[in-house]
Amino acid sequence: MKKKRRFNAPAVLLSLCVFLQLSCGKDEKKIKIGVSMPTVLQQRWNQDGENIKQQLENTGYEVDLRFAENDASIQQNQIEDLINSGVKILVITAVDSFSLTEVLKKAKAADIPVISYDRLIMNSDAVKYYTSFDNFKVGQTQGRYIKTKLNLPAAIDLNNTYNIEFVTGALEDNNTNFFFGGAMHVLKPYLDSGVLAVPSGETKIEQAATKQWLTENAQARFEKIIESVGYGPGEDDVRLHAVLCSNDTTANGVTNALLKAGYTKENFPVITGQDCDVISVKNMTAGLQSMSVFKDTRILAGQAAELVNAIAKGLQPPVNDSKSYNNGTGAIPSFLCDSILVEPSDIVSTLINGGYYTSTDIGLKD
Ligand code: BGC
Repeated sequence: MKKKRRFNAPAVLLSLCVFLQLSCGKDEKKIKIGVSMPTVLQQRWNQDGENIKQQLENTGYEVDLRFAENDASIQQNQIEDLINSGVKILVITAVDSFSLTEVLKKAKAADIPVISYDRLIMNSDAVKYYTSFDNFKVGQTQGRYIKTKLNLPAAIDLNNTYNIEFVTGALEDNNTNFFFGGAMHVLKPYLDSGVLAVPSGETKIEQAATKQWLTENAQARFEKIIESVGYGPGEDDVRLHAVLCSNDTTANGVTNALLKAGYTKENFPVITGQDCDVISVKNMTAGLQSMSVFKDTRILAGQAAELVNAIAKGLQPPVNDSKSYNNGTGAIPSFLCDSILVEPSDIVSTLINGGYYTSTDIGLKD
């Protein structure tokens, strides 16, 4: 007797999947994008790297993401490796904005356009686009915050003077000039008029710089400043009213140094920051950092993904500034995103309700 054939649903489904995979997946070789970030160890770059990777993968690209251990020569080698491995576009945040000229000649020779991400890569015409935040404005936001909190405009009439110190970033990072420049633009008139004094005497960008933006380097320098000036929370100590820190990793170093010197939240100076890193958001909640500038890295990563997509498809890439960012080879078409001032009272509305962090991430109860 002829056996009746039964319909085997799982088997049919399986063959269908294999067929679809072979016929559709096989030929569509994904375009490979190389992404080179400064270090996995700082929240900022870890998060940006993952965001860019995810957004590009969601749009159908293959991504090779590398982190350079904050070392310019490691980054050069990684970029060379990415070029040799056949990437079609490079997205790079330079450890040293001035050290990629040679390796990027190879990118240019291989027709690989470079998107400079967050930090402008200098002296290379392989750089076709730049996307970042308005970093001068970030510095101005920090400067204005100090101006408002200390009420500097009223100080002359009130005969008040304030002590301030400066802690900025790595000199190899082109952004450092913008952050420091923006803040100084606001604060310089008050330094000139004597309303603001810098007891350490370290007012120049080279003196205020922090190697590799590392917390421990900022802390070590600030411990020395506390000691040499005689800052402290006691009645006989020199009062410290504000510390302009260009970002959160440096602010964390200053905070650690102040805590070690006996300061408590009751007598902390005004401290600025940038990035809304988890540690700084926790410090803000605890009264140990006054503000941070929030740069939504999801938006910046999305912008980079759009640039990649437009270049890959031969479309017109989105830019909103075509003249301000000259990297030494000419103005680089740029897209600048907006940043937001965040004070402790904004943490819930901006960072949690905006889905950037959960309450648990930053140590708050649900
Ligand atoms: C970025 C900042 C960051 C700093 C240290 C700068 O180039 O713009 O967001 O805090 O590097 O990593």
